[in-house]
Amino acid sequence: MDEKTQNDDKMMKVTFEDVQNDPQIQALIRGASHVLNVMNYTEHGLRHVGYVARTAHMILTKLGYDAKTAELARIAGYIHDVGNMINRKNHGITAATLVYPILRDMGMPLDDVCEICSAVGNHEEEIGWVVNPIAAALIIADKSDAHRTRVKRLNQHFDDIHDIVNYSIRKNIVLVDSERKIISVKFYMDNSSSVMDYLRIFLPRMIMCEKAAKFLGCSFRLYINDIIINTVRQMTPTQLDSVKDED
Ligand SMILES: [Fe+2]
Ligand SMILES: [Fe+2]
Repeated sequence: MDEKTQNDDKMMKVTFEDVQNDPQIQALIRGASHVLNVMNYTEHGLRHVGYVARTAHMILTKLGYDAKTAELARIAGYIHDVGNMINRKNHGITAATLVYPILRDMGMPLDDVCEICSAVGNHEEEIGWVVNPIAAALIIADKSDAHRTRVKRLNQHFDDIHDIVNYSIRKNIVLVDSERKIISVKFYMDNSSSVMDYLRIFLPRMIMCEKAAKFLGCSFRLYINDIIINTVRQMTPTQLDSVKDED
């Protein structure tokens, strides 16, 4: 083992639990959650970041990535939204900038910090790119978290389409079929909203998920109430003939 690898090996003792228990990280998550509460955004507190951390870790583990990469994705999932403490706009970039010195001070090797920060700085659909496997897992985990519990009960603005759609979602699941290389995101909605409403606000996020799945060598399937949304059912030649345009 060369000297650099030995040093890095000694330094990779920063675990998810270390990050979770760090007072600076805890304060940033509280601050971000507070700002978004005031802005009447959906829940971005410990429930959201815990879900994203768990799901990002699960995606890479099921796809056979090594334990360290999956752990880095788990950490990225936990800290990805702390930039909201400063401002909603460009919060991914802000988050990466905020956590970089904290992770370094905790003793995380530079290459690992860079991978996490690249992923965190690229998780927003408006400005993000799928730059590494951690980013891919983070994007799918983050964008799949739509659920009625994210709507603030005391601040329900049911004229807001985000609240309407989120409130109609009773269940959300991410499934990874490692053999067939398929990542599926499934939502179960009640009839207080519609697929059209869902697509109106979440289509760019699902397109980003498609790109993330492709980066991981998988195809992406979006289901709403068990109906696949992003592919069409294959028709037989006879069926196709029967729907030909009339001259
Ligand atoms: Fe975010
Ligand atoms: Fe998020």
